[in-house]
Amino acid sequence: MSQRILITEDDRVQREIIRDILEQAGYETCPCADGPTALDALADGAYDILLTDMKMPGMDGLELLRRAKEQCPDLDVVVMTAHATVKTAVTAIKEGAADYIEKPFDKDELLLVMARTSERHELRQHNRMLVRLVDDSVSLGNIVGKSPVMHEVFERTRRAVSVPSTVLIQGESGTGKELIARHIHFSGARAKKPFVVVNCAAIPETLVESELFGHEKGAFTGAETSRSGKFELAHGGTLFLDEIGDMRLESQAKLLRVLQDGVIERVGGHKPRTVDVRVVVATNHDLKQCVDAGKFREDLYYRLEVLAITLPPLRERMEDLPYLVSHFREKVAEKLGITPPAIGPDILDALRRYRWPGNVRELENTLEQAFILAKGDTLTLDDLPEKLRAPEPNAGDIVLPAGGVVLEDLEQELIRQALERTGGRVKDAAELLGLTYKTLQYRMKKHEIPRTL
Ligand SMILES: Nc1ncnc2c1ncn2[C@@H]1O[C@H](COP(=O)(O)OP(=O)(O)OP(=O)(O)O)[C@@H](O)[C@H]1O
Ligand SMILES: [Mg+2]
Repeated sequence: MSQRILITEDDRVQREIIRDILEQAGYETCPCADGPTALDALADGAYDILLTDMKMPGMDGLELLRRAKEQCPDLDVVVMTAHATVKTAVTAIKEGAADYIEKPFDKDELLLVMARTSERHELRQHNRMLVRLVDDSVSLGNIVGKSPVMHEVFERTRRAVSVPSTVLIQGESGTGKELIARHIHFSGARAKKPFVVVNCAAIPETLVESELFGHEKGAFTGAETSRSGKFELAHGGTLFLDEIGDMRLESQAKLLRVLQDGVIERVGGHKPRTVDVRVVVATNHDLKQCVDAGKFREDLYYRLEVLAITLPPLRERMEDLPYLVSHFREKVAEKLGITPPAIGPDILDALRRYRWPGNVRELENTLEQAFILAKGDTLTLDDLPEKLRAPEPNAGDIVLPAGGVVLEDLEQELIRQALERTGGRVKDAAELLGLTYKTLQYRMKKHEIPRTL
């Protein structure tokens, strides 16, 4: 990874040797002959590391270190000292230097110290970014998401909180349907009343009605006592009917009647009972398709569809991934009682390449598993399960949109994304795009794209 290094060394020959070594290794450098010039350069541009000589006429390395850290607290400083002055190196470390290197040094020693420092620097920057994400991330309660589709979901969820209508939540498994249902209940007027869950797929079809509406004694074989159903239990609160797509047609008819009149009748009973229940239903089937296939009542579908919230699969909103990772990093660490591990950019890239068939639940579980297996306080690719290390190629990811595309716009967009992913490092962005540094610079100029987005 190329980083920007500010070199401060009063000896011209040494300065140039250092510059050549670092540039050959892929770093971007800015060589300065003294402290004041270095501070000016720092004020003008973004640097990752300051590599400074200790003994310089005028402002010495220690003073430069202090003032540079004051100006840019995120900067990592490496000091170069002669053997006789190792004591000053210790002082420098106490003052906040990241590392030191003893003069004279050879090329490999220099590269080793710089690689170590730049790796730490990058990881810290990255985790700072993740922590910032927690603060700024757009979320509704504990539902996290920043993509436009999730904005729409938040909008509809807010509306659902403030009206008593029935809500239909659709989405693949693990996309957060129950999370939304809970939010609607617990942030609305019914929060202090019961939230009752019925999973229609988990109950034998023939028992669904007695489960929902209750039954009178002797209503069917085995009904030895009368029992109230979930609608009665949820009185004043919310009934969450999960997997509604699996309910058989007769039960659907009865449900529709309750939704229309607010009245239930126990199985085997004749006394209508009025209930005040807000109903939220969820399904991971496409209900419209179920209607077309004759498996779901059209009239019930239209009644439910009035306030419908559709959760997109995670793979269609990968821009939410860093925010979700940031959220689960805290949540999972708290659950496990550990300090949240640092998460490097390579991990995010690996997570981005995967298709997430189990959606957000799979992401959460994967992180939990990785945190448990992690050997150090930093998550590495080795801690991730196999499926993420050898991802299937995402063939067909690039598809020409039906309405066509303006190639120039696509180029601009890809350049922006590459710069964003590499934190504005042109050299790395060029590598991602298979361009030379010069060509990318030329194209950025052409499209007027700044290096910091
Ligand atoms: N947007 C999100 N932000 C934070 N956590 C989320 C989000 N979406 C899902 N989760 C978490 O993922 C897990 C699965 O969510 P949930 O149980 O709501 O999914 P579901 O759609 O009901 O799945 P299923 O269809 O399998 O029942 C939960 O731990 C939930 O907290
Ligand atoms: Mg669920």
